[in-house]
This record gives sequence, structure tokens and C-alpha cells, in this order.
Amino acid sequence: MFKTRITEMLGIQYPIIQGGMLWLSQAELAAAVSNAGGLGIITSANFNSAAELRAEIRKTKSLTDRPFGVNLSLFPAMKSIPNDEFVSVIAEEGIKAVETSGAKSPEEFIPRLHAAGVKVIHKTATVRHAKKGEQAGADAVTVVGCENGGAVGMEDVTAMVLVPKAVDTMQVPLIAGGGIADARGFVAALALGAEGVVIGTRFMATKECPTHPKFKEWMLKARENETVLVERSIRNTHRALRNKAAEKVLEMESKGATLEQLMAWISGENYRKVMLEGELEAGMAYCGQAVGLINDIPTVKEVIDGIVNGARTIGNRLTKIGIIT
Ligand SMILES: Cc1cc2nc3c(=O)[nH]c(=O)nc-3n(C[C@H](O)[C@H](O)[C@H](O)COP(=O)(O)O)c2cc1C
Repeated sequence: MFKTRITEMLGIQYPIIQGGMLWLSQAELAAAVSNAGGLGIITSANFNSAAELRAEIRKTKSLTDRPFGVNLSLFPAMKSIPNDEFVSVIAEEGIKAVETSGAKSPEEFIPRLHAAGVKVIHKTATVRHAKKGEQAGADAVTVVGCENGGAVGMEDVTAMVLVPKAVDTMQVPLIAGGGIADARGFVAALALGAEGVVIGTRFMATKECPTHPKFKEWMLKARENETVLVERSIRNTHRALRNKAAEKVLEMESKGATLEQLMAWISGENYRKVMLEGELEAGMAYCGQAVGLINDIPTVKEVIDGIVNGARTIGNRLTKIGIIT
């Protein structure tokens, strides 16, 4: 057991949260994270209807009796997402926590979620948006440095600077993300003042994550310098592994391509083919710089146990140095 305001708020053993990842954050992954003592999250944007989300929530409940969360996407999307109905399902199913993400404030959903006893964690990539989330009533705020996989925002501030800056600005507990793959990143984030961490990339390369085996193999070979920032020209910057599709998108962006032109490469469907069908060149291969720290495909429990035990070893080292007395 580790104790922070985040573990207390969410009723979890360790302040380790698995971030929502479109297509990948399904029941099996979320339940595995919750069973291992963290907070697993399923992604509502995977679904077209409230009924489908409810079915996934029930499936997750059948796999774990521990708390888990649901990610609500506030990102602009080509197809409209029935977030209003998703919030009703989340409330009715007694979900413990919601992770909202996107530059938009979660304001409109917070009163209904709070009325149902759901804790709201707003995730963003800037201190400004984190503050807005807090002012809107979020119970906790996550900031992700630009090392992270998926959406990185427009400002490219690393976690090493973003986290302490946000901690200094906020009253609610802060969760840090971006580049955390093992005990070292976990302890560093707590040392910077965070009370929990969010992890995406490391969990992609686990047995329970539905990432296609070819993608997992690619992750084992990829180095930390093999990701690129795509979709910046449309103010929707994402970090992805470099592949032919990313190179094509970068070239098109440099020539002023429109969103419609880029969609042939950046659509959610192309990304799904990369992640779930192993068509590695078909679209964006969202992934963080932490890929360079990943050398195996363990179970989720092995990842979390490794972080927890490793954190204790680091504590011993810091004691020897004299930092902890
Ligand atoms: C493949 C992939 C897909 C992601 N999709 C989403 C998403 O749909 N919604 C969201 O809020 N965050 C998404 N994220 C971000 C993660 O939830 C998490 O914040 C991030 O991965 C943490 O940084 P890390 O990748 O360095 O661990 C995604 C990340 C990855 C790697």
C-alpha cells in the first residue's frame, strides 16, 4: 500500500492509473490494472452507443471487483460522441472515477458526475488548462509532459518542468504522466510533487493489452528517438512512432494539407488497423517516448509489482545517499 490523496480518493492500493487509450483500453486491460492495485480505465470513445459502453462496464465488473474508471473524450471528433448518454451510464453503473481529456473544460459534465458520487480527473497538457479543470470542479488533475503517447497539446513542455509548475499552481491532487515506464519515473513523479501517475505506453506492451502482437514486437525494437509529432498543423498534435504514414502526414502538413486531406492517414479507423490488426503502415501509430525503455511484454501485474518493488529499492538508495533520513 502507498498512501496519497489519490489512493485515498479512488480507494486503490497504488497511485498508478492506466490512461484511457482509444481502442486499447478495453475491459481486460482495465480489469488487470485494477486487480494489480492501480486504477484501470476503459475508453468510452471506443463505442457508438450507451448500450455498448454499459456492456463493456459490465464485462469489466465481471473481471474485477476493484474500482475502475471510464475515459470521456472532450477532443474534437469527426463523428459525434454521445457523451451525455455516456455520463448517464457511468452514473447508473456506479463508476468510481472518470478521466476527462482534451483542451475543453469538463465543466458541463461535472455536476451530474458529482451528484452520482463519481470523482472527476481532468487530463491536460498545460498548466493553464489544468487550472481551468480545477476551477471547473475536477477532483484531481492530470498533466502529461510532451514525452507522452497520443495527444501532447501545442506547447511541448516536458514532465520535468510541467509537473512541479502545476503542483505549485493547484490545490487539488496532481497526477503526472508522460514517459513513465518503471519505478524510476514513478518515484521521480512523486518527488516532483505528484500524488499519482498515469501510464499509457508501458501498458500497451503488456499481455492483457489488445495491441496487435506485431505492434508489441515493434515496440521492443523501437528506440526513444523514433517517435514524431504529427497533426500539429491542425492543432491536434499527437506523438506517434515513425512509420510511412507519419512521414506522409508530416510531408502533407509541411505543404499546407487540409484536415480532409489528412484524414486519409490520421483517421481513427486507420489507427485501429495499426493497433489491432497489425497493419503497421496503415495510419498513426500513437506511442510515447517511453517506448525506448520497454524491453519485454510482461503481464500488467508484473509491470505494477515491478514499479512498487523498484520504488522501495530506490527509497533504500536515497536513504544511503542521505536524501531520506
Ligand atoms: C496509443 C495511445 C492512445 C491514447 N489514446 C488516448 C485517448 O483516447 N484518450 C486520452 O485521454 N488519452 C489517450 N492517450 C494518452 C494516455 O491515456 C496517457 O495519458 C499517456 O499515454 C501517458 O503517457 P505515456 O504514454 O508516456 O505513458 C493515449 C496514449 C497512447 C499511447
